[in-house]
Amino acid sequence: MAPMRSWPEDRVAFGGDYNPEQWPRNTWTDDIELMRRAQVSFVTLGVFSWSWLEPAKGEYEFDWLDEIMDRLAEADIAVDLATGTATPPPWFSLAHPQVLPVDHDGHTLWAGSRQAWCPSSPVYREYALALTTQLAQRFHEHPALAMWHVSNEYACHNLPCYCDTCAGAFRVWAERRYGDLERLNDAWGTAFWSQRYTAWEQILPPRRTTSFANPTHQLDYHRFGSDTLLDFFRAEKQVLGTLSPGVPVTTNFMTTTAFRLLDYHQWAPHQDVVSTDHYLLESLPDPRAELSFSADLTRGIAGGRPWLLMEHSTSAVNWQPVNRAKAPGQTLRDSLVHVARGADTLGFFQWRQSLSGSEEFHSALVPHAGPDSARFREVCALGEVAERFGELVGSTVEARVALLWDYQAGWAANGPAMPSQLLDYPLTGRLLHAALRRRGVTSDIVHPSADLAAYDLIVVPTLYLVSDEHAQAISHAAEAGAHVLVTMFSGIADGDDHVRLGGYPGAFRDLLGVRVEEFFPLPEGETVALDAGVAGRGGGEGRIWSEDLYAVDAEVTHRYASGPLRSRPAATRRVVGSGTASYLSTLPDEESLDGLLGDLLEAAGVTPAAVVPPGVEVVRRRSGERSWLFLVNDTDEPQQVAVTGHDLVSDTAVSGSHTLAPGGVAVVREG
Ligand code: GAL
Repeated sequence: MAPMRSWPEDRVAFGGDYNPEQWPRNTWTDDIELMRRAQVSFVTLGVFSWSWLEPAKGEYEFDWLDEIMDRLAEADIAVDLATGTATPPPWFSLAHPQVLPVDHDGHTLWAGSRQAWCPSSPVYREYALALTTQLAQRFHEHPALAMWHVSNEYACHNLPCYCDTCAGAFRVWAERRYGDLERLNDAWGTAFWSQRYTAWEQILPPRRTTSFANPTHQLDYHRFGSDTLLDFFRAEKQVLGTLSPGVPVTTNFMTTTAFRLLDYHQWAPHQDVVSTDHYLLESLPDPRAELSFSADLTRGIAGGRPWLLMEHSTSAVNWQPVNRAKAPGQTLRDSLVHVARGADTLGFFQWRQSLSGSEEFHSALVPHAGPDSARFREVCALGEVAERFGELVGSTVEARVALLWDYQAGWAANGPAMPSQLLDYPLTGRLLHAALRRRGVTSDIVHPSADLAAYDLIVVPTLYLVSDEHAQAISHAAEAGAHVLVTMFSGIADGDDHVRLGGYPGAFRDLLGVRVEEFFPLPEGETVALDAGVAGRGGGEGRIWSEDLYAVDAEVTHRYASGPLRSRPAATRRVVGSGTASYLSTLPDEESLDGLLGDLLEAAGVTPAAVVPPGVEVVRRRSGERSWLFLVNDTDEPQQVAVTGHDLVSDTAVSGSHTLAPGGVAVVREG
């Protein structure tokens, strides 16, 4: 059966979470009028509506949802209808207290906030599937329905859970993975600290222990958590597929580098379309570089196809220590970066700023101040731009650089008792991505299993855990002509988190022609000097990490110039087949990193999307012969850019040169 309506594709879909149950009916009338004014083309409905849809067990109240769905259909606004299963009602946890999640220390996490359910709970699953069934039966033919939105941000608050139900489910998972205890004992290395298991019931979640937990046990608990919730997503999806065939199904990921509890590479194949949420992380030194990183990661997870930005914020959030409103123009600027990097939908949390509840100070499309406000005027301007962006929907992002990212490598790299807690998994990738971004070079952030053939430069940041197969694929890419850059603490362990013996970086030793015997991570704030290197640039400095590196069969490009490793190699390069393999054993300062990447880009023949002044972000989307150049001025000064075409933001022709206002943006259809 064909769906009644499809997702808006004549424009970049524009809208957000709509929670009408928080408001009286007369506000609904205003809402629809304002949505039309702002050119909202979709809303996500019912994310946290369970207690309003099923106020008592098996008693469903759908009238209010019928009414708002009808009103939205009349206004030609597409609905991404949530299954409402993200947060069960209070009556549910009172009747079934065993569904409440339990934290690492054994504390129950009580209802009264959201997502208070254990990811392994069969009871929760039964009730959630019942609600999904009811909704699918009632709304599958509704003319407003364009997409199903399963649950919400899986794992945001309830993973890992350490309850007894999870303990039982974990044993089943482990038995399925290992088959017998001997294999489990081997994988977990239980000869260490007398941890040998002789019966399945001895296996527990990695609850708080006296000292360090077993790293592979912990790694497997991450895998179990991600698999368990994926299984739950698939159960809801199956209900929808049966009762509401043809309507695309998604769940909103959190592909920010601040959230890494789910292996989204494993989740993506089960999505009809990949969607994600992103909020700026103001505590980082460069939040907007992280935004770009996350968007490139989402595109990689989506296999290069356009994706949906389900949520971001028009202005302040309410969950950081200090929550400042966005500057004038910033809503457009932030949104545009997501579109530049592959989003075909711009969604926000939420439509109308709440009057009460714990998100009352979170910004929205309609702020507390009401529609007569600068923020709502910006929202309306964004709606207009989204409409004009219709011509680029479905186009793809141009990139010749791959940057590898693997959630599982991250889980293992940040396991217990590592050489340094300062080497947080995303750090290396983020710094390298930021350096490429500064040079106007777009990278696809992809899993090591991705097809690497199309890339001229492959960046491998801190790929601590890697399979033989993936390590070989990287080597083959170099032999076939790619330039590969591997950084510190890569190739160290196999899939069981067993160290590859014979010297680091284990899996990449032969490819790189280097060998490391011991690590010298640097304490917070301490740096180590680097020499000028063969490129002859002024010496910089490294931080966070250094190591005793031997160039066995590689050219030394930089050396340490201070500290215990003075005059030892810091970075190397080796010719491999028709490509090269470079190694970087520390995290250089910005300038040195820019120089190093500049050399590699030159060798790889990779040029920026366009030559732009420093501080201007540039990305190109393409569809056949047509292309659009996205330009974002991140500086406080006007910037001049050479470009010809039609700017979709200002809707004016551009001939030869364009001035971007401070913080200004342009999206130029080229030619
Ligand atoms: C997301 C969530 C939304 C809202 C938003 C606030 O985590 O899906 O419901 O809470 O954050 O930033």
